[in-house]
Amino acid sequence: MAETPARNGSATLFSPFRMGKFDLSHRVVLAPMTRCRALNGIPGAALAKYYTQRSTDGGFLISEGTSISATAAGFPHVPGIYTEEQVQAWKTVVDAVHAKGSVIFCQLWHVGRASHQVYQPDGMPPISSTSKPISKRWRILLPDGSYGTYPSPRALQTHEIEDVVEHYRQAALNAIRAGFDGIEIHSAHGYLLDQFLKDGINDRTDQYGGCLSNRSRFLLKVVHAVVSAIGAYRVGVRISPAIDHLDAMDSDPLKLGLHVVDQLNKLQQKISGKLSYVHVTQPRYTAYGQTESGRPGSEDAEAEFMRSLRRAYEGTFICSGGFTRELGMQVIENGDANLVSYGRLFIANPDLAMRFKLNAPLNKYVRKTFYTQDPVVGYTDYPYFGSLSRL
Ligand SMILES: Cc1cc2nc3c(=O)[nH]c(=O)nc-3n(C[C@H](O)[C@H](O)[C@H](O)COP(=O)(O)O)c2cc1C
Repeated sequence: MAETPARNGSATLFSPFRMGKFDLSHRVVLAPMTRCRALNGIPGAALAKYYTQRSTDGGFLISEGTSISATAAGFPHVPGIYTEEQVQAWKTVVDAVHAKGSVIFCQLWHVGRASHQVYQPDGMPPISSTSKPISKRWRILLPDGSYGTYPSPRALQTHEIEDVVEHYRQAALNAIRAGFDGIEIHSAHGYLLDQFLKDGINDRTDQYGGCLSNRSRFLLKVVHAVVSAIGAYRVGVRISPAIDHLDAMDSDPLKLGLHVVDQLNKLQQKISGKLSYVHVTQPRYTAYGQTESGRPGSEDAEAEFMRSLRRAYEGTFICSGGFTRELGMQVIENGDANLVSYGRLFIANPDLAMRFKLNAPLNKYVRKTFYTQDPVVGYTDYPYFGSLSRL
């Protein structure tokens, strides 16, 4: 039976929430965001500072996308969680976040075809569900700061998929060893798992292509493997059925989203346990009136799309994409989400939850420093509310 979301009555962004075994003191979540500051894949002092700046007692942070294996990266200086050195380095970051009282999950990432030979071991082509490249509409950021075209990937052979599932399982175990409270499976935004989910990309003829249950098989295997390794309450799943980032189009996004949610519900019933949450990015992807991505469409239709997934999912629901303070308050109050994740506003406002609480003015983000490598500029130098100088 699907849960019927009731209006949350007096719940606001600042009401406590129990997410499985985790007691959160508010609902303003740090969205996972790639920031390219983990030099050579190793998180260092800059990351510890960035994440602790955004920590609050009882807050919830999701890390930037973190590579599960040597073939997983498609941006410069993305952290990994597949070598011992990376695990130990993350430990320092996670310990610092815990000291400030936040819960932190590690987002497990494989970009699939959204990569380039320069990021691949031995200059091999990246892997995917398909051998079709991402169209020239999209450009890849290269290590020297220039932009290039995405190369043709190599479609994974059927027997190789189990190896990638194993990389996710091992990465989840590593994340727990590093002290993370849980992990989020990145199955959104046109990256590897989404390249299997979407019928606009997946052109396979094996048991991982074709019908919905075939296209979602890889994701569900990953969820199963990770849940068995670290426990369902430590596992969140991120999807974005309606987002066409990196050509990730589907002919029926709602059907796809409902199918995945239904499968996750069935898994929960089977194990008599709950996943930590489902995290959905909605196409409205705007802040300050600027559109980042996504198809144009009516906001009502988008809200209804999210509501349908929220109603169908039997557990904690996080929404993301273009939320302001007011929109966040609305979805919580209406029962359309339990938690709201904030991306760009959190980049520019380390104390976002506090600013929201005070209804204080916000710093504006500087887009050109989103993916640069400076450990301070555009990363940890956004001022706190009330401070006169940049920190
Ligand atoms: C600089 C930047 C990096 C991002 N990196 C990731 C990522 O690593 N993993 C992910 O799932 N989403 C990523 N996103 C998407 C965000 O998690 C979020 O869903 C998106 O920014 C929309 O929320 P917003 O309107 O509050 O910014 C990124 C967004 C930005 C702006």
